[in-house]
Amino acid sequence: MNTIRILPEKIASQIAAGEVIERPASVVRELIDNSIDARADRISIKTERGGKGLIRVSDNGIGMGRDDLLLCLERHATSKIKIASDLSSVTSFGFRGEAIPSIAAVSRLEITSLPDKALLGNRVTMSGGKLLSVEEVGAPQGTIVAVKNLFFNMPARRKFLKTPRTEMNHIVDAVLRAAMPFRKISFRLEEGEREIFHLPASSNPSLRLSHLMDRMAGKSLLSGENSQKDLHIAVHAAPAEFARKRADRLFVYVNGRNIKDRFVTKAIIEGYGQRLMKGRYPQALVFITIDPAQIDVNVHPAKQEIKFQNGQQVFRAVAAVVHQTLKPAAHLVPKRPEPFTNLKSGEAPQSAPSIFKTVEPYVPATVREPPPAPIKAPSMDFKAPEIIGQLGNMYILCQMDDGLLLVDQHAAHERIVYETLQKSLRSANIEIQNLLLPYEMEFSLKEKGVLLEKGHVLAQLGIELDHFGGNTFLLRSVPALLKDVNWQMLISEFISKLDEGVPLEGVHLTDEAIKIMACHGAIRAGQHLTPTEMSDLVRQLSEMDLPTNCPHGRPIFKSFTYFELSKMFKRIV
Ligand SMILES: Nc1ncnc2c1ncn2[C@@H]1O[C@H](COP(=O)(O)OP(=O)(O)OP(=O)(O)O)[C@@H](O)[C@H]1O
Ligand SMILES: [Mg+2]
Repeated sequence: MNTIRILPEKIASQIAAGEVIERPASVVRELIDNSIDARADRISIKTERGGKGLIRVSDNGIGMGRDDLLLCLERHATSKIKIASDLSSVTSFGFRGEAIPSIAAVSRLEITSLPDKALLGNRVTMSGGKLLSVEEVGAPQGTIVAVKNLFFNMPARRKFLKTPRTEMNHIVDAVLRAAMPFRKISFRLEEGEREIFHLPASSNPSLRLSHLMDRMAGKSLLSGENSQKDLHIAVHAAPAEFARKRADRLFVYVNGRNIKDRFVTKAIIEGYGQRLMKGRYPQALVFITIDPAQIDVNVHPAKQEIKFQNGQQVFRAVAAVVHQTLKPAAHLVPKRPEPFTNLKSGEAPQSAPSIFKTVEPYVPATVREPPPAPIKAPSMDFKAPEIIGQLGNMYILCQMDDGLLLVDQHAAHERIVYETLQKSLRSANIEIQNLLLPYEMEFSLKEKGVLLEKGHVLAQLGIELDHFGGNTFLLRSVPALLKDVNWQMLISEFISKLDEGVPLEGVHLTDEAIKIMACHGAIRAGQHLTPTEMSDLVRQLSEMDLPTNCPHGRPIFKSFTYFELSKMFKRIV
């Protein structure tokens, strides 16, 4: 029989601490949160051995008197909420009164603090959760928290810490993420005697951005925003070509708090739409400012996740702003977007929660009106690229005003067929070609069932199949746009798509059918094209809404400006 025992207080608090403090970077994050809550405008972080030896966070915030200093060491001691209902409208980073006691339980901790107008400060020293001393000391205004020998009393945890260099990388990431929205606060990070970075208070976010993102991606950010009643969304999104295999350059902030939220990430990806290849994550910053009553921040031990009361509204709003922001990027020859730093900053949103009023947050740039010229090149004044020739029966080479354009012929045609079918479907105007002799097709029993149930989706796109008995169908008509198609393979692919994972319905199913038709109906790589066919293809591509990517998100073309070519060949350095 099992014997249940209550764990001794010491072990219980170590276990609880383990949920909040995973590694040195978690300590840094919690301490920075506290300094921001304390309205500091200067925060310095000093570490030794990647935070394993020492983490010291100093601020010039409101500080604590002796009583508060002793109280903050207790579990569930907080100055930030008073009654249960406050939990539903938290505007500070902290609210649990867990961070300091958790850090204290697993380290040697020293807090020195001097509140406003006091002459003498106080220092408390703890080891493994035990109070060792309280003394009066001279101290600068604010609070200094020094955490030594993290996990010294939890060897199992300490063993799992990585090398100082890796732990330091996590700390750098944590500080940069925290600093991004708070441009009025200066942050300094030092490891040993070496300064890693200093971010002075500045209205210009470019320095913080340049540390946080790829240099090129950071320079290419497109900005947009949208305000609804209690919801403000600002987006700074790099074009899809900067997308990465991991979501490590995708930063989501809710009321200034950096979160890792799969739900918002999905909304951002939805906003990128077909620009993005499957399985890729864009580089972007998304700031969501929402009425605190509409979110629950108390769902994750390290406060890394958030629950939205009206998740669907947030999802749609984020996807829409991202989509809108990226729209002007859909050029056949992309214009170099203006760097983020050139944008003027706007007014703080009306609905900014109070945390944004105490410390002014990073205020997103105002959306610029889309350029007055139409986004896609209209056929009238579109200067047709000069076709140089075909490379490997796969790529079309063109000479442009400012350099070379390389077009993937299959991807380009796939895009053209896709958009043309979409438009014809919308105007209920699909051109159909009736087959003189119906084409007989055999399917499996399972495929037959799917076709009988979902065949109407194909029928509305011009693929008319009659059930002839048994597993045999007769193909009677096809869309005129599609040539040289292996119809049996196309229909089989459609059926297997229906069998995959989440069942597709309605417009999503139709869209999938159109993608499959576009892929099968498009000219192949390996197909020889005449100069006229090539120039027709490039011209038609220039008239598409999204000429940059095929319906699966693969890029359609690459351009090399003379400048880039000259750099490539070291004509200029
Ligand atoms: N740097 C600081 N300056 C001034 N007061 C501080 C500072 N750090 C902590 N405090 C005080 O100590 C209290 C406890 O801090 P702690 O981080 O443990 O809890 P919290 O911030 O209230 O909640 P959470 O556990 O969610 O972080 C805070 O509520 C605050 O009053
Ligand atoms: Mg805290």
